Amino acid sequence: MSETPNLDFAGTTPYEDYVQADVLTHLQHPLSDDPGEMVFLVTTQVMELWFTVIVHEWETAAKALRGDDVPTALAALTRSTYELRSLNASWEPLAHLTPAQFNSYRSALGEGSGFQSAMYRRMEFLLGEKASSMLVPHRGAPRVHDELEKALHQPSLYDEVLRFLARRGHDIPAGLLDRDLSQRYEPQPAVESVWTRVYEGDPTTPEARLGEGLTEVAELVWRWRNDHLVATRRAMGSKVGTGGSAGVAWLERRAQKNVFPELWTARSYV
Ligand code: HEM
Repeated sequence: MSETPNLDFAGTTPYEDYVQADVLTHLQHPLSDDPGEMVFLVTTQVMELWFTVIVHEWETAAKALRGDDVPTALAALTRSTYELRSLNASWEPLAHLTPAQFNSYRSALGEGSGFQSAMYRRMEFLLGEKASSMLVPHRGAPRVHDELEKALHQPSLYDEVLRFLARRGHDIPAGLLDRDLSQRYEPQPAVESVWTRVYEGDPTTPEARLGEGLTEVAELVWRWRNDHLVATRRAMGSKVGTGGSAGVAWLERRAQKNVFPELWTARSYV
């Protein structure tokens, strides 16, 4: 047996066939001459890849819950928390931009904004933050639009959690189980009471472990939003966003929202 790796391949390497590194590392087309733009572009692409994996995990978890397979759901949720930590750590190269550094390539971005990220939107939809208006920017891109439209009408991860809780005998109002899935999920006192009882009980039940898995996800998503907010405040103060919003003021409102709100408010009553 040779001690060194194989060097001789007839076609492309098996690594390339699997990873498609040649494709991946030639997708970087900066729009300005500024040397600092490359890390902005690559960080954004890296985050898109993490969004893609996280969507995959949450869809896996939702599907598993639909079949009452809690171990598979919890494993996917746990993986997603490690991925969320990596996603959040990728803010580091953009977290220290001065306004002058960001200005060096900002105008080249035109009207481009992360607000137009379809994969981020799918994450938000899975968390229950549905809005049909978020499909509008993607009208010109049929594949993206179709995927988002499908996600809009599918049960979110949280919808599947509520259905699971109902099947386990918890008192989830019937109206929530056949709600219009394309609408944003609004927190309900009855669901808060269910989580309160879950948290008062045995911490080893599937419900209690699910509650903590979801809480961890919620906290890490909230951290992404806040890290984004602070990076934006450092890079551009209170200027308007390239996507046309009020910028930091708009992001502040988004970051104030709790993910899975009843899991947080229930804690006051335990
Ligand atoms: C320091 C660099 C960044 C600045 C200054 C910035 C700024 C902004 C601003 C002002 C908005 C509000 C919408 C608008 O008017 O454009 C926004 C939204 C957004 N940005 Fe960034 N951004 C930065 C980096 C990133 C990166 C690297 C990503 C990764 C994909 C990203 C993803 C998003 C997303 C997903 C939204 C929409 C959030 C929502 O819908 O709640 N941003 N950004």
